[in-house]
Amino acid sequence: MVHNDIFVGLDIGSTKICVIVARKNASGSIDIIGKGEAPSSGLRKGVVVNIDATVESIKRAVEAAERMAGVEIRSVCTGIAGGHIKSFNSRGLVAVKNREVSKKDIERAIESAIAIDIPIGCEALHVIPQQFILDGQGEIKNPLGMTGVRLEVDVHIVTGAVSSAQNIIKSCERSNLSVDDIVLEQLASSEAVLLNDEKEIGVCLIDAGGGTTDMAVFKRGSVYYTTVLQIGGNNFTRDLAIGINVTECIAEKIKREHGSVWLQQAESANEVEVPSIGGRRPKKIDKQVLTQILQARAEEIFQMFLGELQKKQLLEIVGGGIVLTGGVANMDGIADLAESIFDLPVRIGRSIENVGGIIDIVDNPAYATGIGLAIYAAKKGHQKNKLSKGTDEKVFSKVMESMKSWFGEFF
Ligand SMILES: Nc1ncnc2c1ncn2[C@@H]1O[C@H](COP(=O)(O)OP(=O)(O)OP(=O)(O)O)[C@@H](O)[C@H]1O
Ligand SMILES: [Mg+2]
Repeated sequence: MVHNDIFVGLDIGSTKICVIVARKNASGSIDIIGKGEAPSSGLRKGVVVNIDATVESIKRAVEAAERMAGVEIRSVCTGIAGGHIKSFNSRGLVAVKNREVSKKDIERAIESAIAIDIPIGCEALHVIPQQFILDGQGEIKNPLGMTGVRLEVDVHIVTGAVSSAQNIIKSCERSNLSVDDIVLEQLASSEAVLLNDEKEIGVCLIDAGGGTTDMAVFKRGSVYYTTVLQIGGNNFTRDLAIGINVTECIAEKIKREHGSVWLQQAESANEVEVPSIGGRRPKKIDKQVLTQILQARAEEIFQMFLGELQKKQLLEIVGGGIVLTGGVANMDGIADLAESIFDLPVRIGRSIENVGGIIDIVDNPAYATGIGLAIYAAKKGHQKNKLSKGTDEKVFSKVMESMKSWFGEFF
């Protein structure tokens, strides 16, 4: 059955593969009506390294989401992340053809901003206009129809490895899904949790997942800076496993159940029972010890981002503060710790302000990327259930074209 009001986000993460089903309601807003999830074993640090394992997890997640939402899923909007992603700002300049800015002039200005050296083996994934400048007058959001002779545009360009994008598409195609778009994961998360006011004032989103921690800075309503750190929740787990001498599997469980990164919050003399390796008797570990281990890793991550914001002179523009998403944002005390390091207001990014529907899903920062991808699909208005045909190569070109033209739709 064809559902033209259903939009699906597929978040292919390092620890979980998650399918979010959204429905556009009569008032035009979005409700989350289903979710499917499966553990992910085919990715390393945000990048697909095993297609078969990824396909297996995607199929399981899709089936679960279909059952929950009662719809058939044929096409998705999916994400991309990893160390191969690079981003920078660039300026384009053109002469206005007939003294009145046309759509063509805008397109040419943006094209000229992309005419820069993109590393071999990479493609521009996103080209996001920040502001237009007409005859020296800046901060113009949409110059269409304005009079002038010299049109400049500042854009944020995100590039990524072609092979990585192709492996994502391959994994989807082999799961019988057509890919409508591939979106940088932290931009997808931003769609789900950031408010327009925050993006206008200036805000920094930090999505702390299992394999990587991604950042996006917005100012004047536009993306200004994006970066990725190849450290994530898995590192917390490994630190804990080594620190208290347990398996990673046990460490992961303890982290999720008792993990805190704010020493002030950990009650003294509060002990956690931990199974020992090799059938020995369980041991008791002071919760403060767990917190010390986890807090050190969280501090390291936040300090690295603080350094990055300072180096790029972005700290003064993020007056709207820091918004944390990703599974790691569920950790106790994480907002307090971040506030103490950044000296800025910090909140946990939940999608609850931007979408309706099943509360357990929209209230969990770990689903921000999946929800954002579904919102993205809905905004773009992809019509569902077209099963793509053709070679992976053809599909790749189609998706790339679609991504680059997306931002043009605002004008
Ligand atoms: N309640 C919790 N307390 C502590 N950590 C948690 C909690 N819930 C999830 N995590 C951690 O969050 C991480 C997973 O986050 P998320 O689901 O956002 O990752 P992902 O999207 O699969 O990975 P990536 O985005 O890096 O590819 C794991 O390391 C997990 O242990
Ligand atoms: Mg993620």
